[in-house]
Amino acid sequence: MCGIVGYIGNRNCLGLIIDGLKRLEYRGYDSAGVAILDKNNDINIYKKKGKVKELESEFNIEDLSGHTGIGHTRWATHGEPNDINAHPQTDMSGNIAVVHNGIIENFKTLKKKLEKENYKFVSDTDTEVLANLIQYHFKQNNNFETAVRYALSEVEGAYGIAVLNRSVPDKIIIARNGSPLMFGLGKDEIIVSSDAAAIINVTKNVIYLEDGEIAVLKYDSFQIKTITDEDIFREVQRIDYDIEEIEKGGFEHFMLKEICEQPDAIQNTYRGRINFQTGDVKLGGLETVKDKLFNAKRIIITACGTAWHAALVGEYMFEEYCRIPTEVEYASEFRYKNPIINKDDVIIFISQSGETADTMAALKEAKRLGATTIGIVNAVGSSIARAVDAGTYIHAGPEIGVASTKAFTCQLMSLVLITLMIGKNKGTISDENLMEIAAELKLIPEKIREIIERKNDFKFIAEEFKDSRNFLYLGRGLNFPVALEGALKLKEISYIHAEGYPAAEMKHGPIALIDENMPVVFIAPKDSTYDKIISNIEEIKARKGKIITVATQDDNEINNYSDYIMRVPKTLPIFSPILNSIPLQFLSYYIATARGCNVDQPRNLAKSVTVE
Ligand code: AGP
Ligand code: GLU
Repeated sequence: MCGIVGYIGNRNCLGLIIDGLKRLEYRGYDSAGVAILDKNNDINIYKKKGKVKELESEFNIEDLSGHTGIGHTRWATHGEPNDINAHPQTDMSGNIAVVHNGIIENFKTLKKKLEKENYKFVSDTDTEVLANLIQYHFKQNNNFETAVRYALSEVEGAYGIAVLNRSVPDKIIIARNGSPLMFGLGKDEIIVSSDAAAIINVTKNVIYLEDGEIAVLKYDSFQIKTITDEDIFREVQRIDYDIEEIEKGGFEHFMLKEICEQPDAIQNTYRGRINFQTGDVKLGGLETVKDKLFNAKRIIITACGTAWHAALVGEYMFEEYCRIPTEVEYASEFRYKNPIINKDDVIIFISQSGETADTMAALKEAKRLGATTIGIVNAVGSSIARAVDAGTYIHAGPEIGVASTKAFTCQLMSLVLITLMIGKNKGTISDENLMEIAAELKLIPEKIREIIERKNDFKFIAEEFKDSRNFLYLGRGLNFPVALEGALKLKEISYIHAEGYPAAEMKHGPIALIDENMPVVFIAPKDSTYDKIISNIEEIKARKGKIITVATQDDNEINNYSDYIMRVPKTLPIFSPILNSIPLQFLSYYIATARGCNVDQPRNLAKSVTVE
């Protein structure tokens, strides 16, 4: 999920690798490191928590010569950000160094196998297991490429890797499965990266690896193979776009990139955590508090902003599927209200950044009162993640845009996983229903892709309403929080006033706002609330409100009530907030861009509100 740079060639490589890592800084990371093979074929490693420029102060570039090296900027998934968990990771002997993007799902199994072979580990990372596994096979075969291929054939999960071996100093081996990796062909030099931004200043001639492939790189030649040892021939491609475009992956803004990353991000949230045959969910980070969760008399969920909207969806899920009384609190309120906490309460803290001051303060208050505290966090090793009793990481990857998008849907997916785990244990979800939900869960990334393919439909609607001065978003049940989230997305990046409301609440006052200048967005899935939503739509239409609906793909009846329709695939109610929020993300994005707003850094806002 973060950044890899490697080099083998006729120049000193440390400065080139550091420069490449700096070009990847936009991606967000928590630690960085380099490994350089020097003229004695020793592997010199410099790595630490923090920024690349802090890493640079560890060494003097001029002092370190070497023509072969690898570097990494880490976005931690296993093992908090610290100097030991930073990459490169080496095997026990220090002869093999690895940098890795991604998640090795079966690292615990592999680690146990290696420990039985007397391998020792010093880090908490999944990556260190891979380094030792490669060394294990190298010891067996004495062939670097075979060792990498055999090691990867045992790995389950996503990776992009670059590997150094001091016993084979004239090669770097790279491999890809699920995390992008490419290499650039210079004159008597090859530069490797997970991102063209780190390559383009050396060469524009690149070769992209595909999933299941490795490449053996020498300074003047390369060979591509599959993990199963079939030779691959791959055309050289030319990078024709500029640095700015590369950093956003060709998207105009980080927000649009992150909206479109949601299929992969959601998959990373549940990767390795659910058995699709049985519906069993395993969240390693919650092992120590499982019984507390299963026996909770009450769950309180506290957060801020978008995370608070996810908390509201969680409330519906825990009450509907687990039958556990659940309350949601703004963290900024909870921290000051002298809350009544009982010993059987479980308090969940949701935070993308893991650094939000109000949420952190609420956590400290909850701990002071002796509650069991659980985190649902994106940033591994963040303050909230380290302070809770237990937690689960959403693995959404770095979210750069201030307006939260993929983190929100990954928070919802994490709440689904927790709901399934509790529901199965308490028997409040039947095995049949569990299997139905697990089967549908697997289809969600593809259903999100179908919505993304319709983005131009949403863009058309956005352009119709870009000059509106107010918006209303209405929903029912677990789509009421989606209405709130849609309104927040719009107001925070387009500066148009927008409110979310329970659809039935309109008649208690807000309906007085309706006239021909008020666009009203209804979240109208074909579910048990549908007929009521239709009645609410008619109330608005009778007063000339403009109706935009988020509706199920095959629902034709809604056509009679909508001025504009944003379609989403049919799904189970538990997943409808995930799918329904995506057209609203696009709607707010395209309205904001049509208004010339600074989408990634909206006025007055910060990505993480680390002050009261
Ligand atoms: C949402 O788009 C905003 N960026 C903001 O409301 C955010 O959700 C809130 O500040 C909470 O941040 P956190 O999830 O990092 O704690
Ligand atoms: N899973 C690896 C770790 O946590 C790699 C994370 C990344 O992609 O940066 O160290």
